[in-house]
Amino acid sequence: MALLEVTGLNVAYASQGAERIWAVRDVDLSFEQGEFVGVVGESGCGKSTLGYALARLLRPPARTESGSIVFDGVDISTLDHEALRQHRRNGFALVLQSGMNALNPVRDVHHHFADVLRAHAAPHERWNRASIRERAAELLEGVGLDAGVIGRFPHELSGGMRQRVSIAIALSLEPKLVIFDEPTTALDVIVQRSVMSTIKNLQKGRGFTAILITHDLGDVLDSADRALVMYAGRIVEDSPTVELTRGEHHPYTEALLRCFADPRADEVMLADIPGAPPDLSLAIPGCSFAPRCSVAVPSCSTTRPVLAPLGGGRVSCQVRTGLVEGGSRG
Ligand SMILES: Nc1ncnc2c1ncn2[C@@H]1O[C@H](COP(=O)(O)OP(=O)(O)O)[C@@H](O)[C@H]1O
Ligand SMILES: [Mg+2]
Repeated sequence: MALLEVTGLNVAYASQGAERIWAVRDVDLSFEQGEFVGVVGESGCGKSTLGYALARLLRPPARTESGSIVFDGVDISTLDHEALRQHRRNGFALVLQSGMNALNPVRDVHHHFADVLRAHAAPHERWNRASIRERAAELLEGVGLDAGVIGRFPHELSGGMRQRVSIAIALSLEPKLVIFDEPTTALDVIVQRSVMSTIKNLQKGRGFTAILITHDLGDVLDSADRALVMYAGRIVEDSPTVELTRGEHHPYTEALLRCFADPRADEVMLADIPGAPPDLSLAIPGCSFAPRCSVAVPSCSTTRPVLAPLGGGRVSCQVRTGLVEGGSRG
């Protein structure tokens, strides 16, 4: 049985007086215990919304409109607040954001551990100052920090240290699934690499399932076993990372790979693909990428593609997967 099984997930933002924005569309996914999965795509394609939906951490105006999320055999999409809290103790997802906002500026590191450990304590568990200290020391050392950090406040720590503290706090409940949302985006390049390698080592050593949300294909290629490529709220490709650098892929994945290979990648991000992502308040009957795609045929705009095998992975492209005759290859 998969650790996490998502079926028919749709998430929309409903602001008053505006059309609903469908940020996650018809997502079916499953995650195995111990997998490291990268979710990659341009800013605004729905990665964070998907991550928060999986962890049941969406806040209004975002709402899960339909779909089931089965974690460890339990459908968490229907659990109430108290049942969710108890389920979190059993290792259910946590989301780590990058940056300062994950930590409370007026509380020292000890208090952050205390809050999490006490909020999810089992009925027989008693966390006192000494036992929290002991647990925190082990976790802080596990993320490459000195245990003495426990007495510090967030502003006394560098960005990289703060992110390591956040990771240690998230791991204090021994989660089976951790979702990292752009965990290194706010850090400078050298620190980014070192935090990513800490995440990878922790994941290997502790065996939790990691979902890494990032706009940086390089992080996915370096760290993930499997890559999910998102475009306009949909998963357009689900492939082993090792397959990404060879063979044919979804035309959008191919565009991302071309940009990544370009040394000016940060500035020219997807500049070589004409057009823009679709308006997410509209229904999209066919493939969301069709208007920008160089291999699209007329039926791409009318028939919704589904993930189908290609190479070692799956892509939702009826041209690439041979379901229709291809257009001009470009
Ligand atoms: N608070 C919000 N209110 C309305 N729409 C939102 C809000 N946050 C995000 N969205 C919409 O959801 C889409 C996906 O956002 P997000 O999940 O943050 O994308 P990503 O993490 O890939 O950058 C955005 O393109 C935007 O249209
Ligand atoms: Mg995001």
